[in-house]
Amino acid sequence: MSNSATPSATTTTIKPTDLRGILKYVPRFQDQIFVIALDGSIVADENFGNLLVDIAVLRSLGIKVVLVHGIGQQLQELSTSRGIPISDAFGTGATDAATLDLAIRASSRVSHVILEGLTQNALKCAITNAVRALPLGILKGVDHQFTGRVDRIDTEFILTLINKSIIPILSPIGYGPDGKALRVNSDLLAAEIAEALHASKIIYLAPQSGLEINGDVKREISMDALRALLKDQPDAIPESTRSKALHAIKAIETGTPRVHLVDGRIFDGLINEIFSSEGVGSLIYGNDYQQIRRAKRSDVRAIYNLTRGAVKREELVYRTQQAIEKNIDQFFVFEIDENLIACVSLYFYPDKPTLAEVGSLYVLPFYHNRGIGRKMVDYACMMAKERGAKTIVALSTQSYSFFTSALNFEETTKDILPEARLKLYEESGRNPKVLVKQV
Ligand SMILES: CC(C)(COP(=O)(O)OP(=O)(O)OC[C@H]1O[C@@H](n2cnc3c(N)ncnc32)[C@H](O)[C@@H]1OP(=O)(O)O)[C@@H](O)C(=O)NCCC(=O)NCCS
Repeated sequence: MSNSATPSATTTTIKPTDLRGILKYVPRFQDQIFVIALDGSIVADENFGNLLVDIAVLRSLGIKVVLVHGIGQQLQELSTSRGIPISDAFGTGATDAATLDLAIRASSRVSHVILEGLTQNALKCAITNAVRALPLGILKGVDHQFTGRVDRIDTEFILTLINKSIIPILSPIGYGPDGKALRVNSDLLAAEIAEALHASKIIYLAPQSGLEINGDVKREISMDALRALLKDQPDAIPESTRSKALHAIKAIETGTPRVHLVDGRIFDGLINEIFSSEGVGSLIYGNDYQQIRRAKRSDVRAIYNLTRGAVKREELVYRTQQAIEKNIDQFFVFEIDENLIACVSLYFYPDKPTLAEVGSLYVLPFYHNRGIGRKMVDYACMMAKERGAKTIVALSTQSYSFFTSALNFEETTKDILPEARLKLYEESGRNPKVLVKQV
């Protein structure tokens, strides 16, 4: 058991005064389905009670929650206490009859602990038999016996529960065509459930502080980068998180936009990951940003034409085609059917490498209010962070409230700008507001 259930210095705890910040997310998340996957060790951790309170908060904000749990730790403990050796603890290797028997016992126990905890928080829940499984069979000559793979998920059953405000609890035991139990890996199960329910997120709660790559926790990584890493340097990711990394990729490939890995032992970790812009775990993202790409030389004219109207209305600073071309490496564009419909630039100050500026943000009016502007800025912030920026600034004359209300930027003074940039600011005579955000 961990003793890290108290707030630690590394935890950004949300204060009651941040309620306004949280409420901003509510319309975005309302009625979305979040699959929360709990490792068996997290159910056994002393922070588990706090996690259930957090889940109650999510429910009260209109987020639909499905719980999937693992049993690895409990299965190993049962094996030790009863002196019965197990063939595999995690539902990935072969499951012999003795292991299956212990897995069923461990699973009943874990489901029951969750049921008790949800009841203490006045939440309705139901343990289900919604997962149909088939034996994994013989792989590379090894008969996996009672290890199963997910065949079908009774989505109608799960959705009926969710729509009646009942939290479905899914254990890592599936049922074969003959109704007999098969052991299923819970990371895989979470990915399959998310796909079947078109969930918007999976949140894996595990006893790790996120996705570690070569010893450092990576706060955000694209699915493509993670896939490449697993292929070329699998050892860069510790074995304990490799299964989650693989299943995160699978989930994103099959339509779940985001997968989070959060330390389930940290007080307020779940809530902070969802409701604070920095997060405390790791985010693996996919399709969200697939239409955004770095601009190429051949985009210069399109960027110039795209932003011309905004320049006329003094929303953006005038830039010649030559100026855009010279700085084309700083631009990102959003493409729909090979047409550029939005752009943003990201500039690093040579004399202050931890500071980056987001600018030239423009979305064609026809595409307004579809979340594209927000995505462009979020993406630019993410790229800036990957390159070592800690603070992002934006200068805006007419859309400053977009940055503050939709993107959590705060107004600051021009003194934050490095000397050379401040000089340009003064010379422009535009007097834009200076907005800032920590990443
Ligand atoms: C500002 C701009 C980029 C927003 O793009 P968008 O794709 O429409 O924005 P999104 O769809 O991501 O975000 C929409 C949210 O922002 C709000 N919003 C959009 N424009 C806003 C503005 N000018 N001021 C305040 N809020 C604004 C919307 O009301 C909406 O809020 P909601 O999510 O609570 O409903 C776009 O209006 C634009 O290109 N404007 C002209 C150029 C400009 O001013 N650029 C900024 C230069 S720094």
